[in-house]
Amino acid sequence: MQRLRLAVLVSGDGSNLQAIIDAISTHTIQSEIACVISNRKAAFALDRARKFSIEDYYIGIGNYPDEKERNEVLYDTLIRENVDLIVLAGYLAILPEKLIQAYKGRIINIHPSLLPKHGGHGFYGIKVHESVIHSGDKLSGATTHFVELGIDTGQIIYQKTVKVAPDDTPEDLAKKVLKVEHQLMVATLVAIESGIVKIGSEADQNMPQIID
Ligand code: GRF
Repeated sequence: MQRLRLAVLVSGDGSNLQAIIDAISTHTIQSEIACVISNRKAAFALDRARKFSIEDYYIGIGNYPDEKERNEVLYDTLIRENVDLIVLAGYLAILPEKLIQAYKGRIINIHPSLLPKHGGHGFYGIKVHESVIHSGDKLSGATTHFVELGIDTGQIIYQKTVKVAPDDTPEDLAKKVLKVEHQLMVATLVAIESGIVKIGSEADQNMPQIID
């Protein structure tokens, strides 16, 4: 068991962050959230962090308009907070290459489809579910994966499936998938803490798994 210092990067509502907070409260997850960082000042995820007295940072175009400086502040914050694992939970900004290299095998993301399908540039939020419905796929789901250069392209860690009903709207599907995301996020962090899923230099030893 390794108790990690997590940085959760957010941009929106923060329901995945809340799932982590709740799992820590019930000791399902032993790790601690060192900080929550948002690139959007208005993100409700920041309110969730404050409610649980978790260090929160807004690092965005509004307070760091210069991209180079913004990236440096993000990097320096993670180093200062002694972060062991970066969790992207609906974070919609692109991570700087220097950060991805420095944290190779220590950045995970959650995506609301069965990657590699319905992922990549422009596939976020409801657009993902519209694409799934439009494609006629009978199965969708959520994916956790390591982050490397490129969008949604890193090695898959876990996937959990969701049946697409014939009359599902994209909104119906989004609701079903979000519930599964919360389960998958917690399961992935539990597996990382217990060493079942390797991180850092051993991350490429993992085999992607479907968990149901
Ligand atoms: C989730 O659907 C996640 O898969 C995607 O962005 C959304 C974040 O939702 N990357 P929340 O902010 O965690 O509620």
